[in-house]
Amino acid sequence: MLDLQDIHYQPATSEHPILKGIDLEAHYGAPVMVAGASGSGKTSLVEVISGLSKPQRGYVRWKNKSLNERQRRWLCGVVFQFPERHFLGLTVAQELRLGHRRLSTEDQAKALGKVGLSNIELKQSPERLSGGQQRRLALAVQLLRNPSVLLLDEPTAGLDWSVREEILGLLSDLAKEQVLIVVTHEPELFKNWIITSYQLSNGRLEQMTKLP
Ligand SMILES: Nc1ncnc2c1ncn2[C@@H]1O[C@H](COP(=O)(O)OP(=O)(O)O)[C@@H](O)[C@H]1O
Ligand SMILES: [Mg+2]
Repeated sequence: MLDLQDIHYQPATSEHPILKGIDLEAHYGAPVMVAGASGSGKTSLVEVISGLSKPQRGYVRWKNKSLNERQRRWLCGVVFQFPERHFLGLTVAQELRLGHRRLSTEDQAKALGKVGLSNIELKQSPERLSGGQQRRLALAVQLLRNPSVLLLDEPTAGLDWSVREEILGLLSDLAKEQVLIVVTHEPELFKNWIITSYQLSNGRLEQMTKLP
């Protein structure tokens, strides 16, 4: 479904290449994890896949068709690290409506249902939500766009144990109906449900496992 071929990426502001010949595949219902230490290039990889950055070389293809940056921005939903720090809406309802001016109540309810926030008070400030609810809201905002590929950058960072379990459970459910890619420096947390895992180091990606 999604595949990367020989991606090389070096932003103008970097002295060294960050990604050096990355190949990766991700399929519907078979969640992918990219593990790597801090500074290994995980966030850069998310930016390249989602069309926020342009690689110097290589292809990102969807269903065997190469996509440009704009097409990749349509294809992908990204939840960056600590999404709750970037909420802009004064209320939960406003947060959901940012970029979706014609959002129907039905679509809104569907997205909230998917992340387990069906009974939430929509008029409260996102800041009043619990840590777990804030992460769920950030996911709902992306799901509203119906992305074919969901990219999650360090989705468990900064969460305490019980909230982490809750978010991991939700992600494993979402993975059943999406192409889903998680990048993390805490790979052991995801091992129960990730199908394909890669290790990123020194700008190179190595596939670790592939279950049938
Ligand atoms: N736009 C940029 N300009 C210069 N250096 C960058 C840029 N983006 C990332 N880097 C550097 O590339 C390396 C990988 O960064 P990043 O992709 O954020 O890694 P990770 O998410 O794994 O911590 C780091 O050394 C970082 O400082
Ligand atoms: Mg990062």
